[in-house]
Amino acid sequence: MCGIVGYVGEKPAASILIDSLKKLEYRGYDSAGICVLNDSLKTYKTTGKIANLESILPEGIEGTIGIGHTRWATHGKPNTVNSHPHLSGDVAVVHNGIIENYLELKEKLIGDGYIFKSDTDTEVIAHLLHSHLYGGIDGVFKLCDLMVAVQKTLLSLEGSYAIAALCSSDPGVMVVARKDSPLVIGIGDGEIFAASDVTAFLKHTKDVIFVDDDEVASIRAGGNVEFFDADGNPVTKETIKIEWYIEDAEKAGYEHFMLKEIHEQASSVQDTFAGKISEMEGAVVLDELNMSDEQIRHMTRIEIIACGTSWNAGLVGKYLFEQLAGIHTDVDTGSEFRYGYPVICGEVLTIAITQSGETADTLAAVRGARSYGCRAIAITNVVGSTITREIDSVLYTRAGPEIGVAATKSFTTQLITLYMLALKFARIRGKISAEDSKNLLVALKKIPADIQKILNRKKVIQECAKQFSDSNDYFFIGRHLNYPIALEGALKLKEISYIHAEGYAAGELKHGPLALLTDKTPVVAIATKGHTYEKMLSNIKEVKARDAVVIAVADEDDTEIEKYVDVVLRVPKSHELLSPILSSVVLQLLAYYTALERGCSIDKPRNLAKSVTVE
Ligand code: M6R
Repeated sequence: MCGIVGYVGEKPAASILIDSLKKLEYRGYDSAGICVLNDSLKTYKTTGKIANLESILPEGIEGTIGIGHTRWATHGKPNTVNSHPHLSGDVAVVHNGIIENYLELKEKLIGDGYIFKSDTDTEVIAHLLHSHLYGGIDGVFKLCDLMVAVQKTLLSLEGSYAIAALCSSDPGVMVVARKDSPLVIGIGDGEIFAASDVTAFLKHTKDVIFVDDDEVASIRAGGNVEFFDADGNPVTKETIKIEWYIEDAEKAGYEHFMLKEIHEQASSVQDTFAGKISEMEGAVVLDELNMSDEQIRHMTRIEIIACGTSWNAGLVGKYLFEQLAGIHTDVDTGSEFRYGYPVICGEVLTIAITQSGETADTLAAVRGARSYGCRAIAITNVVGSTITREIDSVLYTRAGPEIGVAATKSFTTQLITLYMLALKFARIRGKISAEDSKNLLVALKKIPADIQKILNRKKVIQECAKQFSDSNDYFFIGRHLNYPIALEGALKLKEISYIHAEGYAAGELKHGPLALLTDKTPVVAIATKGHTYEKMLSNIKEVKARDAVVIAVADEDDTEIEKYVDVVLRVPKSHELLSPILSSVVLQLLAYYTALERGCSIDKPRNLAKSVTVE
C-alpha cells in the first residue's frame, strides 16, 4: 500500500523524508520518491528499495520543506515514471488512494492541453492543482494560493485520497488533505510532519493530530498548522499523545501483521469493488477483463486454477459462477491440473487465482491451459507479478501488501472479485434481472461495515479461542458456499496454530469422520441462514449426539441455533451469497487467537513461505 510523508521545518528535509519513508517500508512498495522545495522543486524517484532512491540523491540537497512517497502500484506499472511525486509545472503532489473518476478527469485535462507522462490516477491531481493555480496550461499569473487550489481540486475528485502538495510559487507551505485514506500530522518543536501513519515520524514526536475525512490542512514553516472542513471553515483539532514504541509501530501497533491484515479487510474489500459497481444500474464494470459480450455469452465452461487459500476462493467461485451465471465450473489445484485431461479449450475460460502472482504450480498450470488454446485471466494482488505478464487479462484485488504468511485480506478480496465477475457474467448471459443484480450490489456495499462490526466484537472470538486452544483436533463443517469456508477455516487454524484441523462438507461427516469425534473435538459449524440451514442443523445434532463440542458461526438474529450448540460466534445478517466473506473473518480471528494462546510464530509459521515459487 502506498505511503505518504511530508516535512516542514528548519532541518534539511531530504534526509528526514528518506528516514520517514523507511519507516513505512513495512506497508510494502515497489518504488519511492521525494520532492524538496528550495527556490524550485527538486524531485528524485526510482523503482525498488529506498536504498535505490538514496543512491541517486546528490549530496547536500537544500530545502527544509518536502514530500515523499512509497508506491504500491495500482494504476500503471511499477516504474520510475509512474512513481510519485507527480509534477505539473511548479506543483508537486504525492497521493495514497484511488481516484475513481481519473479517466474522465484525464480526458478533460488532455482536452485543456495538459500532457500526461504517467499511467497513474494521481497525475490528474497535479494537473488540476496547476489549472486552478494558473487558470490553465498556458497561465502565467497565480490566481490563488495553494490552499485554495487544493480545495478546488478536491471538489472534482471521486474516490479515496491522502495527499500532500507543494508549489514553488507558494514557498514555505505544504497542503495536505484526506478522504478514506489515512493521514496524520506530527507536531514537533518548530517542525511539522505529515504521514500515512505515525510510524513515519514517531522518533521525532509523539504529539499527533489525526486528519479527518474531507479536511484540508495548511502547514507553514515555524510550526503553524491550520485545518479546514470541506466548506472551507476553520476547524479546531485536538492534539493527542501517542504512547507507542517505534518497534510496535512498525506493525501500526498490532502485535502481528496477520492481525493488522485481518483488520484492514473492511477497507481492502471496499477498495476492491470501488469504482467497479453501479448499484443504481445493477452493473459491474470490469473493463480490464477485455472480453466481448459475445465471448461471455458463448463460454461453455470455466476452469479455475489456484493453490491453498486461493483454491478455496476458487471453490466459492464455482458456486457463484454456476448459481448466478449458469456456467459449469471446475476447480483444480495448480499442482494437479496438468495430470488430468488435455482440455479442449475453444470456449473455456481459465481463471488463475493467485495473491502473489508467483506461485509456481499455478503458473505452470496456466501455461498448460494456454497451450491448449484457452483464454486465461488472472485474479491477483501484485501488480507486475509473473502471472500478469503471461495472461490475457488481469483483475487486481486491492488488498495492499499482505506480509503475514497466512492469507487473510487477499482471500476476502478474491471472493469480492469472483462475486463481481459472476454477477457480470450473469447479467450478460441474461441469467439475472437488473433488479436482482441491483439488490446483490446493494448487499455487497454493506459488507465493509459488516466486517467492521465483527472486528469490533472480536473479544468473544478471542475467549472462544482460549477455551479450546488445548485441543489436538478440530473439525470445520459447512454446506454449499460454506463448505469452502470450512476448508479455509481449517487451513488457517492448522497453518498458524499447528492444531490438526479438517474441513468437511457437513453431509460427509457420517461417511467416516464421525468416528473421530469425542468430547475433546471442537467442531466449528458454519450455519449462517440460507437454503441449507435446516440440513446444517441436522448435521449439528449428529455431532452433538457424539458428545463433540459445537462452535457455530451464525447470523446475529438467529435465536434457534443456541439450543443446539455450545458457543455461537455471530456475524451480521447478510445475503446468503456474501455471508461466506463474513464467516471467514470470524474464522481468521479464531485461528489467530488460538495461535496466540499457543505461543506460535504467527506471521512466519514453520516450514511455510509467503510465496511458493517452486513446483
Ligand atoms: O500467492 P498465491 O495465492 O498463489 O498462494 C497460494 C498459496 O500458497 C497460499 O494461498 C497459501 O495457502 C496461504 N498463504 C495460506 O494462508
